[in-house]
Order: sequence, then C-alpha cells, then structure tokens
Amino acid sequence: MALIAPSLLSCDFLRIGEEIQWLESSEADWHHLDVMDGRFVPNLSFGLPVIAAIHRMAQKPLDVHLMIVEPEKYLAEFRKAGADHITVHLEACTHLHRTLQQIHELGAKAGVAINPHTPVSLLYDVLEQVDIVCLMSVNPGFGGQKFIYRTLEKISMLRQEIDARNLSTLIEIDGGVGLQNAETILKAGADVLVAGNAVFADSNPAGVISQLKRISVNRFAF
Ligand code: DX5
Ligand code: ZN
Repeated sequence: MALIAPSLLSCDFLRIGEEIQWLESSEADWHHLDVMDGRFVPNLSFGLPVIAAIHRMAQKPLDVHLMIVEPEKYLAEFRKAGADHITVHLEACTHLHRTLQQIHELGAKAGVAINPHTPVSLLYDVLEQVDIVCLMSVNPGFGGQKFIYRTLEKISMLRQEIDARNLSTLIEIDGGVGLQNAETILKAGADVLVAGNAVFADSNPAGVISQLKRISVNRFAF
C-alpha cells in the first residue's frame, strides 16, 4: 500500500496545531515539511522552530524536505528539532556521499531529492546509502503546480534499478500529485505520494487522504 505524506506547505498556518491534530487521526503516514531558503528555491517557508513545535505534537514521522543550499551545515539542528527523515537536494550537495553518512550518524533516515531536470542515474553511485529518493515532479519552491509527466519514466527507471539491486529504498513523488494521477504514478513504481494542494484545498481533506491510500496497484500484474 502506498504511503501518503501530506505537505504542510498548503495548510492554514494560523491553525497549524489543529492541522497536525486531524492529520494525526487521519490515514496519512508522514508529515511532509518543506523548508525553503530563498536561495536554492525562489521562495521562503518555515524552519527549525516550526518543526520543533510540530514535533512536540506529532507522533507520525516528520519527513523534512530541505530546499536549501549547504544543507550539511544544519543537519544536526534539524535532527534535534525532530526530523525523522532528512531529505537534501542532490543539486545542493558537493559531497553528497558524506552528507548521507552524516544524516545516518544522526540517526535519521536519509533522503535525496532531485529536480525535474536531473537524471535518476546521477543517484546510482549512492543508491545503497539512500533510504528515500524524492523525485520532484514540479520545479521546487511552490505548492499547487502541475505534475510534469516525464517524471513517470524516471519512476520506472529508478524502480528497475532499486529492484535489480534488491534495495528497500523508497521512491517518493513530490509535486502536482492528486487523485487524478495517483494511480498512474503508483503503477510506474512509486511508494510514497506527497500531496499539498490536493489535500488542503479540498473540502474533505481527510477523505482525499483515504482515497489516495485506497488506490491499490498490482505492479507485478503484467
Ligand atoms: C514544492 C514542495 C512540495 C509542495 C507540493 O517545492 O516540495 O512538497 O508542497 O505541493 P503540491 O502537492 O500542491 O504540488
Ligand atoms: Zn516537498
């Protein structure tokens, strides 16, 4: 069954405690938290104090997506704030292998995100060290954008590579995911769906999460 990670970027920040509360009792699996620095991406979001506050209330894993330059400088701080998964961008890391080691030494799961223009093959030399590959299906920086369909080919290529090596690395898809395309994305081989706008802009957000959760795909049927 797919894992669902609602992105809090689209939540009502005035009511963030209540948002976490209903998400905790929903079928969501992780809380996806988008950190932006105005340098790696042309937008700013939230940082350590907000994550620490969410951590005080949340039981579900905090899936922290760092859209920042030099993420290695802040790994220990994000871990201390409560990040269970720390995802860095390949494009922001000069020494990705070392950064992944540091994330593991801090006791967190290590994720690597890649932008739409980055080929999945650039991950192959570190794949054994990666717990979660986050394939960006929009250009990072904003919620509510349109899914880039080329991502489907990237998902299948990565799925084959992960299966061929017998790894348990999860494939997470981030950007423009919703009920209209979730089944196609899962069929291509994804494990985790991030959804911001599709969840929070709906009048029944918990219902959208259950519907996403209920999409069942038999990857091995053909
Ligand atoms: C975009 C963020 C996403 C974003 C997804 O830079 O990484 O997590 O919140 O939002 P939707 O689902 O609205 O595209
Ligand atoms: Zn994200």
